[in-house]
Amino acid sequence: MDEHGESNQKILLGITGGIAAYKSAELVRRLQNQSCTVKVVMTAAAEKFIGALTFQALTGEPVYHDMYQSSGDAMEHIELARWADKIIIAPASANFIAKLTHGLADDLLSTLCLAAEVPIYVAPAMNQAMWKNPATQNNISILQQRGIHFLGPDQGQQACGETGPGRLLDPQEIAAQLLTSQQSTQLTTGQRLAGKTVLITAGPTKEAIDPVRFISNHSSGKMAYALAQQALQAGANVKLISGPTSLTPPAKAELHAVESALQMHSAVMQNIQDTDIFIACAAVADYRPATVAANKIKKQADHLSIEMLRNPDILTEVCALKPKPLCIGFAAETENLLENAQKKLNAKNADLIIANAVGKNKEGVSLGFNAENNHAYIISKDHCIDLGSHSKNQLAHQLINHIAEVYEKKHTS
Ligand code: C5P
Repeated sequence: MDEHGESNQKILLGITGGIAAYKSAELVRRLQNQSCTVKVVMTAAAEKFIGALTFQALTGEPVYHDMYQSSGDAMEHIELARWADKIIIAPASANFIAKLTHGLADDLLSTLCLAAEVPIYVAPAMNQAMWKNPATQNNISILQQRGIHFLGPDQGQQACGETGPGRLLDPQEIAAQLLTSQQSTQLTTGQRLAGKTVLITAGPTKEAIDPVRFISNHSSGKMAYALAQQALQAGANVKLISGPTSLTPPAKAELHAVESALQMHSAVMQNIQDTDIFIACAAVADYRPATVAANKIKKQADHLSIEMLRNPDILTEVCALKPKPLCIGFAAETENLLENAQKKLNAKNADLIIANAVGKNKEGVSLGFNAENNHAYIISKDHCIDLGSHSKNQLAHQLINHIAEVYEKKHTS
């Protein structure tokens, strides 16, 4: 058994056309390091970016690419689909995602996906505008409804020179999510949160000082958006009450865009009534300027004081409702993490607090605000679970599983 409690999985890796295809070689290695057997199927476009020989050498197996290959086995697509425990398409191009959506079967990879009865995972990689295009987003939403799992994409600098969502998720991360997805398979097939409404606050708030200035913080909204995505995959109706971020919300989430803490507070209170699970992930400003100047404040004295007023604590208010939804808060701390998180759990009367360190871990990887990774602990009245340091997507997956479990226990006891 490996660290994820699984071993010897048979993984069929489909590679489609895109510059990120070179990263699939590392993915093969990562999967093999976890005792997986990997077989590779490449599309014709993939072979324009990286040679089949690389994968043949890495896997010690022939690379499959042709429906009518010389093996003489006319049923190759069925055989391959039956052989695999899981299928992962990495990178998955926008074109391949569209083919998968419509059930096209015009090459070996698309045909075997149509014939597959095992879980299919898709790690997209494409230009940010192609990713954001409603055609792609609609396709993704249809595939997610069918139970196909999406891993990534990441944000950042792209091969084309643009910046945005559409980078292939790090191969190490793809491997980790793929291999820990035993539960996620149950989630999609079992739809653990089906029929439940999950309300999530996200991102920073902006507190206006005058018409051109505001007070805010470095929250990116990544953790909350990842939680929204995972809750959707678990079958929940998701309401996302989001401060300003640069992220594309999951297509199926009901988005309420807000700016200030007061706006976030009233959007939450208006939507809380039918909420089963409330996740307060936003970095809400604790204070706001007492007055917002009607005109831009001019430079005058050497010192300027701005009187600040306390904002309502949204989580505390929701936790005080009777009946109250299952309430989960976040504690991002730079010091005394667990002690402060425990205090928050008690002070706010939350069911769970997810504690995460802000700063850098021992390896120098940035954690917390506006970072790709988090080191998280789940704290409740009777336990403290160290989830370790992972990408926000992977943590979201673990957190939604845990939250679903706590919800189920609470409602069956
Ligand atoms: O009290 P503190 O801000 O450290 O607590 C953090 C938790 O409380 C987070 O879950 C955050 O979303 C929530 N919070 C809130 N409303 C506020 C401040 C924090 O919901 N005004």
